[in-house]
Amino acid sequence: MTALVQTRKFHAQVISRAGQKAHLAGMKVGTIAYNHDELTMPAIETFALAKHYNIGFWRKRRKDALKSLTLTVEEGEVFGYLGPNGAGKTTTLRLLMGLVYPSAGSARILGKALDDPAMKAQIGFLPEQPYFYDHLTPKELLTYYAQLSGVPGKDRARKVDASLARVGMSESAGIQMRKFSKGMLQRVGIAQAIVHDPKLIFLDEPMSGLDPVGRREVRDLIQSLHEEGKTIFFSTHILSDAETVCDRVAVLNKGELRGVGVVADLVSEVSGQVEFVWTGAAATAEIAALGGKTHEASETFRTILTQEATDRAIDAIRGAGGKLISVTPVRATLEDYFLSKLGAGDRDSQNMQEVTR
Ligand SMILES: Nc1ncnc2c1ncn2[C@@H]1O[C@H](COP(=O)(O)OP(=O)(O)OP(=O)(O)O)[C@@H](O)[C@H]1O
Ligand SMILES: [Mg+2]
Repeated sequence: MTALVQTRKFHAQVISRAGQKAHLAGMKVGTIAYNHDELTMPAIETFALAKHYNIGFWRKRRKDALKSLTLTVEEGEVFGYLGPNGAGKTTTLRLLMGLVYPSAGSARILGKALDDPAMKAQIGFLPEQPYFYDHLTPKELLTYYAQLSGVPGKDRARKVDASLARVGMSESAGIQMRKFSKGMLQRVGIAQAIVHDPKLIFLDEPMSGLDPVGRREVRDLIQSLHEEGKTIFFSTHILSDAETVCDRVAVLNKGELRGVGVVADLVSEVSGQVEFVWTGAAATAEIAALGGKTHEASETFRTILTQEATDRAIDAIRGAGGKLISVTPVRATLEDYFLSKLGAGDRDSQNMQEVTR
């Protein structure tokens, strides 16, 4: 959660930074006339950030929760941080929030050190398992957090109501949270992360505990925050949630960064396979000879083969008396990318696949 605000000091820093840059660029420097574009900087930067724990009682063993993470998230991005259980997602978020100290490396958020109070006033955080005093109502809790984050008294009630409305909790705003379901608490947690209108929002598994409708609502909320120009960094192990909403994703496994990519590129890559659809004759034996399996649905037959087999498959289907309806290259999904980065046969990747079904 955010801490104290030092707005005046922060503005002074911003102006002097802009002034310095403008000066270096040979521009005329005015006291307040500076170009906002000059201020663009990565939202998050980590440099060989690492965390290990010593576990075990008698014989200590070193557990690398995060191994040398170097990553940049640009302002305005929706960035998905993907990985199976135990990958190191929460550890990364805890490090970035300053809740645990790195064993090695460093990080900056909005160009500032992790303990900078002005930066903290501009970020919001939803922890993995948010815990709230359950005798409080969402309204009381959010008013408290808004105050902590430096939201001026005159704006507080309006901002609290607006953020509860954004997560669909207006009607329950006055009910004690001990009566709430996991999904309702998750929504309050998200409202808490956005109540002070932060520039950058960190969400650890924001869709967890939500039903499909709730998950969809959170995706829509992320989308609308994105349209307002906010940067969102969220962790998930549910690939479909990341696929629809992220600009870029990083894949983490066993504390190691396995890959970073633009979602649009990853999912438009051709997977090297081709789908054939035809009618008339099953051509089961011919397709089997090419290493495929024929599936039948309402008198239409379908198979997927490697790209190299395309010509032979067309001949085989026609030769057996079949009539081709379509021959389509299969597009890779984010899941394909994910699994390829985790490594085939990896037990965790099997878990991941199950989660996404
Ligand atoms: N305080 C701690 N002491 C010892 N080991 C820890 C500690 N915190 C995390 N770990 C270990 O570090 C690894 C990464 O944990 P982390 O919670 O970051 O994973 P995650 O990607 O968030 O997983 P999940 O999807 O289950 O939330 C795990 O093996 C975990 O057991
Ligand atoms: Mg976690």
